[in-house]
Amino acid sequence: MIFDTHAHYDDSQFDTDREELLASMPEHGIGTIVNASAAVDSWQRVLELTEKYPFMYGMIGVHPDEVGMLDEEKFAEMEELLKRDKIAAVGEIGLDYYWDNESHDVQKLWFIRQLELARKIGLPVNIHSREAAADTMDILKQYGQGMKAIIHCYSYSKEMAEEYVRMGYLIGIGGVVTFKNARKLKEVVQAIPMTHIVLETDCPYLAPEPNRGKRNSSVNLHDVAAAIAELKGISTEEVIRVTEENARRFYGL
Ligand code: NI
Repeated sequence: MIFDTHAHYDDSQFDTDREELLASMPEHGIGTIVNASAAVDSWQRVLELTEKYPFMYGMIGVHPDEVGMLDEEKFAEMEELLKRDKIAAVGEIGLDYYWDNESHDVQKLWFIRQLELARKIGLPVNIHSREAAADTMDILKQYGQGMKAIIHCYSYSKEMAEEYVRMGYLIGIGGVVTFKNARKLKEVVQAIPMTHIVLETDCPYLAPEPNRGKRNSSVNLHDVAAAIAELKGISTEEVIRVTEENARRFYGL
């Protein structure tokens, strides 16, 4: 069954039908969902989701746009929450120079602190990186060696993806791969081995074709798997099977 390695079902866009939608996941062939945390105020909602749905796991972390909210007290709380049973990773963490909500120094500081915390606890990480390719690579080379990481919503070059694969990291592929103008990402998918690809929605964002622009959900991952299958010359079932295996191994589930 499909494994969604990165979703945001705590987002208010799901407030109208969250229960109904999540209850329908098994009948749509969705076997496992890992819900990321974006901000400190999402932690409690993520924990509640993982407690309510057997097939849901969570990440605790702070997105680079939101690290201004972090302080030592919150960071200590984060460490405690990361020890909960259904918390499978630290995330999402990284650098975002597109929105540039926080200074680069502040973003780097908390990215490194969260990486070090993940290593200390022994959890994998989910990396968010937007228009910050070189700094992300530098920090991961220095602080992320030997760790398990998914580069979520991968948006950089084929060469850099191959370097991440050499570092043992996985590449998260979502709705963008179905877009007509996503030439670069299609090349990435063709260049890297299936053993290093996982499926992700980042829902409610980034719905694949033919639902581009609408609210996304894990159900749409069938379209992402089909697009990868076409690029790889294998069946959609094979893509679903291998990416599920990769994700299970990664999260230790
Ligand atoms: Ni996300």
